[in-house]
Amino acid sequence: MGNTGPERTAARTTSGVGEVGPSPQEMLRTSRGPQGRGTARAEAGERREAELERGVGEILIDEETLQTRIVELGAEISADYEGRDLLLVGVLKGAVFFMADLMRELTVPCEIDFMAISSYGAATDSSGVVRILKDLDINVAERDVLVVEDIIDSGLTLSYLMRNLTARKPASLEVVALLTKPERREIEVPVRYVGFEIPNRFVIGYGLDFAERYRNLPYVAVLHADLVPNAT
Ligand code: IMP
Ligand code: MG
Repeated sequence: MGNTGPERTAARTTSGVGEVGPSPQEMLRTSRGPQGRGTARAEAGERREAELERGVGEILIDEETLQTRIVELGAEISADYEGRDLLLVGVLKGAVFFMADLMRELTVPCEIDFMAISSYGAATDSSGVVRILKDLDINVAERDVLVVEDIIDSGLTLSYLMRNLTARKPASLEVVALLTKPERREIEVPVRYVGFEIPNRFVIGYGLDFAERYRNLPYVAVLHADLVPNAT
C-alpha cells in the first residue's frame, strides 16, 4: 500500500518505472554486501568449519574432486540415456546434495522424486531394518528410473529398494551411488554408476550425516575418532 501514494505515483510518471528504486541486480549486490558472493561464501565456509571441525577427521574427498567426478558421471549418464526421459529417484535425505549437483550436469530431460527409507537410527551401524518413511509421488511404471544414492554400505537399503521398485514395473531401473564401501557389503546389488569407492570408515559431509549433522560440509570427511561410538 505504501507505494501507491501520490509521491511514488509522481516519481513513476516523471522518471519511468524502470528507474524507480534499485534494479534487481543492484538489490542482489546489496544483499550480498560489497565483497560479493565469493567472499561471503568463503566467510560462511570458515564459520561453518569452525563449528563443525570437532566432528571432522581427515578429509577423504575434497570439494573439487567431488565436483569433477560429478561432471564426469553427468556426461556418462547423459550419453547412456540419450533420447530418453529420465526419472531420478533420490533416497532422502543424504542423496539430496549429490542429486542436485548431478542433475545440473544432465543434458537429457529429467524429473525428480524422492523416497525416504530407514535402515539406520542415530548410530553408525546398520540395524538391517528397512522401512519406507516416504513413498514416491510419481508412478514409475514404464519409466526409465535412476535411483540416486549417497552411499552404499551393507547394501541392505538398496537391495530392499530395488525389489520394491522392480515390482512397480519401470521400463528400466539403474543406480548411481556417489560412494560405496565394498568391504562392508552384505548383499550384492547392481550399481551401474559409482562416484568413489571408499574404505570402511564412517564418513560425513556432502549429504552424509552423523546423527543428522554435518550434511552441509562441501566435502566428504571421516568422522572424528572421538565421535565414533563403536570403532569398526
Ligand atoms: P546400507 O543399507 O547399509 O547400505 O546403508 C545405506 C545408508 O546408510 C546410506 O544411505 C546412509 O544413509 C547410511 N550410511 C552408511 N554408511 C554411512 C557413512 O559412512 N556415513 C553416513 N551415513 C552412512
Ligand atoms: Mg543417514
